[in-house]
Amino acid sequence: MRTSEGIRRMVRETRLSVDDFILPVFTVPGKGVKKPIESMPGHFHLSTDLLVQECKKARDLGIPAVILFGVPEKKNALATQAYAKDGVVQRAVSEIRNKVPGLTIITDVCLCQYTDHGHCGFVEKGRVDNDASLDLLAKTAVSHAKAGAHMVAPSDMMDGRVGEIRQTLDEESLSEVAIMAYSAKYCSAFYGPFRAAADSTPQFGDRSTYQMDPANVREAIREVTLDVEEGADIVMVKPALSYLDVIRTVADEVDLPVAAYNVSGEYSMIHAAAQRGWLDLERTMMEVLTSIRRAGADMILTYFALEAARVLEKKNG
Ligand code: PBG
Repeated sequence: MRTSEGIRRMVRETRLSVDDFILPVFTVPGKGVKKPIESMPGHFHLSTDLLVQECKKARDLGIPAVILFGVPEKKNALATQAYAKDGVVQRAVSEIRNKVPGLTIITDVCLCQYTDHGHCGFVEKGRVDNDASLDLLAKTAVSHAKAGAHMVAPSDMMDGRVGEIRQTLDEESLSEVAIMAYSAKYCSAFYGPFRAAADSTPQFGDRSTYQMDPANVREAIREVTLDVEEGADIVMVKPALSYLDVIRTVADEVDLPVAAYNVSGEYSMIHAAAQRGWLDLERTMMEVLTSIRRAGADMILTYFALEAARVLEKKNG
């Protein structure tokens, strides 16, 4: 069954398509800013004007959606820039919505880029206060939705935030805005390059009191089930590569679409090895993305989206 490319194509069980990809992008204040993120070749801090160009590139390659991360100028205890009407993400969303029709806009909803301590929630007396964080997260989600986001993606891992966000969106007549929940988000070392890029490294402690223990898989089902009950439309497993078993388990257990986040460290390590000539970038990238789909992910958030879309375009003529 492997003797010719025709037969191999006929019996292939998993196919990658550009429809599977969501491109993460980073946006900063200013004009004409395109600052390379050193550990993530091909990725940049982009001001809104140049972000629009990047989004057009994605759309024209057929990528259905981008997920937006903001890197603000000012941070403070209440993360006010996270939900400011003229915040960096809010402005970028309305620009993309106007200038790049046809592209779906997802926003990452979290506080860690906006708090001076770098934690994903509100901190009091040196501890993350779960319940006090919910109101700020819901406000952030609503402000993104009002700016024009089609979907919000809470990545903070506070308990109860999906329900709070759903209820608040509905109260604000934003019931058509969907929620992609970072449901099984692990406390992972693979976020290193992202935190450097987003300037969101916690200034004390770590995220182990709210993100999941890498040793657990049954807990992932509990987390996912809670988010489904609270109104999530898509559930996510993150990271992807060290958690392919979790993706498979979640895909078997729930009947919602499952997303997997092929995170920054997974991207950087392949690029680093390729730069040294130790790995073939294109083949490794396509194998990794295929394995994430094979594990059961319906869609993949990946920094490889543009490169992989170009490979598929070439292949499909
Ligand atoms: C914010 C957030 C993080 C990522 C996505 N949203 C970082 C973190 O939890 O520290 C990681 C993305 C990546 O590594 O590519 N909470």
